[in-house]
Amino acid sequence: MGLRVCLIPGDGIGPEVAAAARRALDASGVEIAWEIHEVGAAAYRDGGEALPERTVAAIRECGLALKAPVATRPEDPFRSVNVELRERLDLFLGVRPCRALPGTRTPFPETDLAVLRMHDGDLYAGFDYAPGDPTAAAIRAAVAAAGPPLAEDAGITLKPISRRAAERAARAAFEWAGENDRELVTIVHKANVMRGSDGTFLAAAREVAADFPRLIVEDRLVDRVCADLVRAPERFDVLFAPMLYGDVVSDLAAALCGGLGVAPGANLGQGCAVFEAVHGTSAHRAGKGTANPAALILSGALLLRRAGEGDAATRVERAVAATIATGLVTDDLAGEGVEPRSTAAMTDAIVERI
Ligand code: IPM
Ligand code: MG
Repeated sequence: MGLRVCLIPGDGIGPEVAAAARRALDASGVEIAWEIHEVGAAAYRDGGEALPERTVAAIRECGLALKAPVATRPEDPFRSVNVELRERLDLFLGVRPCRALPGTRTPFPETDLAVLRMHDGDLYAGFDYAPGDPTAAAIRAAVAAAGPPLAEDAGITLKPISRRAAERAARAAFEWAGENDRELVTIVHKANVMRGSDGTFLAAAREVAADFPRLIVEDRLVDRVCADLVRAPERFDVLFAPMLYGDVVSDLAAALCGGLGVAPGANLGQGCAVFEAVHGTSAHRAGKGTANPAALILSGALLLRRAGEGDAATRVERAVAATIATGLVTDDLAGEGVEPRSTAAMTDAIVERI
């Protein structure tokens, strides 16, 4: 029996890399019925909703989606589709493996880590108010007794981190670490300053860690983690972080081990998972046929593995690695003296190897 997978072509380079990933997964031998769904600005223009309910329902029904990057712009009249999709489908854990592949330019060829991201709450929760917003005024009034006044011209973004949500994400993160033969989990936080929110995250993660005696669990401040990452990323194994630090650290880690062009990701929930690259829409490359398809193809491999198609997943991953190792790559990976290939040519090379 085949798989049903929702495909979201996305914005910018999205449609090009989505087409490439679709070709690669079709070549894996797994039979896939694709259902295409538009979200974001196009969906908003057509139906007044950036994330239509029918798209959410379709992903719920399929249980699996492959999502190309969708733009989140400050001027958009709707909330980030990326964030809302995770919320509406309760995809509470982000998984972003980061392994240096031969043929990519990295000073750290030993790097093999994963950034796990708690998707609930944090500064992305949507409690976000411009200075003139009535809720900002209400918050100002509510905290007036607590300390120095909040400036009237201050925009305000709240950072809620729920204990229960942090426990759930931590449990899933430690389980993921165990299932993937990881040994060390570093809890990433800034609880020395944000005792309310990050303190809750840290306390929850530490408590849950006690149920996983086979893992070594440590915690570090996020700034220190960044410094250590650029010096010696190979010392890390799994990083478990709240939403915003996870966003920042996953781009940093990706750039350290080959670049955003090869960094895959997964958003995991109970019965449902959406796979997406770490990178964005790269608007300046859109339509030029120069985008690196590897990150979304590798995200597709993660999808296959989640669907129980581990052999096919490994074939896809090996084909991507071999293609990169032989230098059949787009310009982001092409070193000096290597002729950069187009998205289609790199995809051809990958598909042939699969
Ligand atoms: C990512 C992106 C998103 C995030 C944006 C587009 C909302 O940067 O998936 O890393 O911050 O989660
Ligand atoms: Mg990001």
